[in-house]
Amino acid sequence: MSDSLENVRILRKSRGLVGTVLLPADKSIAHRAALFSALSIGTSHIVGYPTSEDPKSTLSCLRQLGIQIASDEVGLSVVGKGLDGLVTPENALDCGNSGTTMRLLSGILAGQSFSSVLTGDSSLSARPMGRIIDPLRMMGALIQSNGGRAPLRIEGSQNLRAVEYELPVASAQVKSCVLLAGLFSEGITTVIENTPTRDHTERMLGLSSVTIGSKKYISVQGGQQKTAQMWSIPGDFSAAAFFLVAGSIVPNSALHLPRVGLNPTRTGLIDILRAMGADISIRNERIVAGEPIADLDVRSSELTGITVGGEIIANIIDEIPILAVAASVAEGETIIQDAAELRFKETDRISAMMNGLTTLGARIEEREDGLVIAGGSSLTGGTVESFNDHRIAMAMGVAGLMASGDVRVEGANAAAVSFPTFWDVLQELG
Ligand code: S3P
Repeated sequence: MSDSLENVRILRKSRGLVGTVLLPADKSIAHRAALFSALSIGTSHIVGYPTSEDPKSTLSCLRQLGIQIASDEVGLSVVGKGLDGLVTPENALDCGNSGTTMRLLSGILAGQSFSSVLTGDSSLSARPMGRIIDPLRMMGALIQSNGGRAPLRIEGSQNLRAVEYELPVASAQVKSCVLLAGLFSEGITTVIENTPTRDHTERMLGLSSVTIGSKKYISVQGGQQKTAQMWSIPGDFSAAAFFLVAGSIVPNSALHLPRVGLNPTRTGLIDILRAMGADISIRNERIVAGEPIADLDVRSSELTGITVGGEIIANIIDEIPILAVAASVAEGETIIQDAAELRFKETDRISAMMNGLTTLGARIEEREDGLVIAGGSSLTGGTVESFNDHRIAMAMGVAGLMASGDVRVEGANAAAVSFPTFWDVLQELG
């Protein structure tokens, strides 16, 4: 495989992937651990903070807000300054490619005594921010944007109002943004969720929630001050997903994935792959820092197509690109529906996967809210693009392991956003 300097990787058909996969730490949990540590009183320790680009963006923004962060071989120590301790940043806060950084930080900045500007790269600057601007304005924040997109200028307010807010879109980032603004508001803020999304914020802040019928009500008391603690970050399930699929579809494979985060709001892909015929076993389940983790083993198997849609989509939202790769070599048709949210990710992931897999000879139909994948394709070589999206780069890399000819992934370095060692790990496993 080559060549990181040219931002291109060339993949060849694999004869089998065997070995242990060392995963990066979970980026969703890492962002939150850093942000919540900054808002706590005292020095928190974060064991195993990832070195990927997105979590680094969160750290650099926090440093600009006056938070001291030191790193050693175990992880990070973050000197929290409490709810009122952030200072006016001298420059715009650059969130890079990270939607989680921009959306969660916005909730915090809405409640400050100073104003700030949030920027991002070209991908992040094209993503919808109206979904956080609307509830933050309801709470009393003053926000200017570029037509609902970054850059965002947030005029902090120390008189935010608590709200009851029903999420119009299934999004953990929006949920978390409103709950964080709620921390800086007078009274109790409640977010109502109709479709379950990842619940790391609730777990990590110890928030109360109640489910009535199909709705979950999550509440935060304004002014609640946290004290420093130790966080231990599990392996990223969304990174594991690439190897769960690769280990399933590449013949003669046997992969071991230790210490994978198995938060039930994230693991729908395991159920789907098993329903398709995958051989995945879960061992040694335990709870670490409030999150379930376990060791996984996957062996190659014959997969069959499946229809996925409805509530599970929010659970597997980051795993759909790699599911599309599994579907293209599975026997029979796969339908992925109700997934229009994919069009608002780092790139339009429906069209990016359609583009890449079609180039490699898969038979796919693009729909507004998903893909219909004929299955049973023998993939061929070709040149595909990541569109600078980490998950598209990695998904196309896994597709390359199944192709009869060379697959050239352009923009391969995008993988560093969540999984800097991805290409090396893939190469080592064969
Ligand atoms: C995330 C939530 C999801 C997910 C993203 C991380 C989070 O985004 O796609 O990778 O950490 O809260 P949405 O909230 O936009 O669905």
